[in-house]
Amino acid sequence: MIIGIIGSGAMGAGIAQVAAMAGHPVILYDNNTMALDKARKSLSATLIKIQEKGKIPSADEVLSRFTFADKSDAFAGCGLIIEAIVEKLEIKKAVFSDVEKVVGPECILASNTSSLSITSIAASCSLPARVLGLHFFNPAPLMALVEIIPAIQTEPSLISLAKDLMLKWGKIPVIAKDTPGFIVNRVARPFYGEAIRIYEEGIADMTTIDWAMTEFGKFKMGPFTLMDYIGHDVNYIVTETVFQSFFFDPRYKPSFSQKRLLEAGWLGRKSGKGFYNYAEGTPLPAPNQDPELGKAISERILVMLINEAVDALHLGVATASDLETAMTKGVNYPCGLLKWCDNLGADKCLEKLDSLYHEYHEDRYRASALLRKQAVGNKNFV
Ligand SMILES: NC(=O)c1ccc[n+]([C@@H]2O[C@H](COP(=O)([O-])OP(=O)(O)OC[C@H]3O[C@@H](n4cnc5c(N)ncnc54)[C@H](O)[C@@H]3O)[C@@H](O)[C@H]2O)c1
Repeated sequence: MIIGIIGSGAMGAGIAQVAAMAGHPVILYDNNTMALDKARKSLSATLIKIQEKGKIPSADEVLSRFTFADKSDAFAGCGLIIEAIVEKLEIKKAVFSDVEKVVGPECILASNTSSLSITSIAASCSLPARVLGLHFFNPAPLMALVEIIPAIQTEPSLISLAKDLMLKWGKIPVIAKDTPGFIVNRVARPFYGEAIRIYEEGIADMTTIDWAMTEFGKFKMGPFTLMDYIGHDVNYIVTETVFQSFFFDPRYKPSFSQKRLLEAGWLGRKSGKGFYNYAEGTPLPAPNQDPELGKAISERILVMLINEAVDALHLGVATASDLETAMTKGVNYPCGLLKWCDNLGADKCLEKLDSLYHEYHEDRYRASALLRKQAVGNKNFV
């Protein structure tokens, strides 16, 4: 099957590499010839490195499967097209509608959107039943998780087709309902949002919160380090889109601290400054390694994450098993959040959330109805 990729940026080039390494002929299309040229050079360099490591016999052979195109009519013979262009609904809709004029009726159309509605993208097509979401994680060749998101119009048989194909590509597929942020970008929001809230309230500084999450939560990176790494142009925009798409549910409310960074162009590591200053020789402030404070911070962020995962289960966003897979494979959490809830005890998690709710009287801290049910008799999820 010929695979078409729209957009040769970070994600498009990465997905193209995965498809070509799985043996498919790949047509990589971008309307910006400079971006296309950059992708061609970086794919070639990457494949040579992979060959040198002995993971593929010939970089040239994989490269020969690529066609680089600056016109979408190159897609004519494709069986699957994955779109990875700018995260703007109107532009994605226009591109889907254009591409549909070029391809045959059997061609499946997928979007790699992080936060837009697949249903609304599908609505721009004359055959919306052929559209679904295939959400890869960055960098696509290294991250195993792929969220498969059927729109309400999607032909149901496409789900198992997509699942089988992703398994053949060496990926770990999970299925998510077409709701804002799907699984990972919804459930992970409190990791960032609650950390910023704790900082804004002056409970602890950023390095202390980062230390608490790595020391007690066993996360690979603290929230501020991670947000700086992802970049505020990506991380803040996802938060804002999820918040707006959830009809302004206060659980997903963005922060001014992060918005100001974006406005200043302090995008994080890539611009040399974000929450932290990456100029050479700038020392990070030392964390306050008070174990009681560290445990309290880690517990507060963790129960917010657990509540989010439990509520996603409650609302049928994904199965319990897919929720666990998504958070451990998509964002490398040290443990699935439902299992974590079992380990801590649903009653203890509920108690902590209720105490936050009583302290703040904010809807942000409302416990999921399912967590409340599980807490009765302290039932296990996993
Ligand atoms: N970067 C991430 O971490 C990440 C992770 C998962 C999903 N995504 C999603 O993947 C998509 C792409 O993200 P990215 O980070 O690769 O973006 P990017 O900016 O690196 O690349 C986008 C590419 O699309 C091209 N493009 C823009 N409009 C086009 C059009 N009309 N026709 C053809 N090409 C066009 C641009 O020239 C550019 O090369 C977005 O929807 C994003 O939300 C991003």
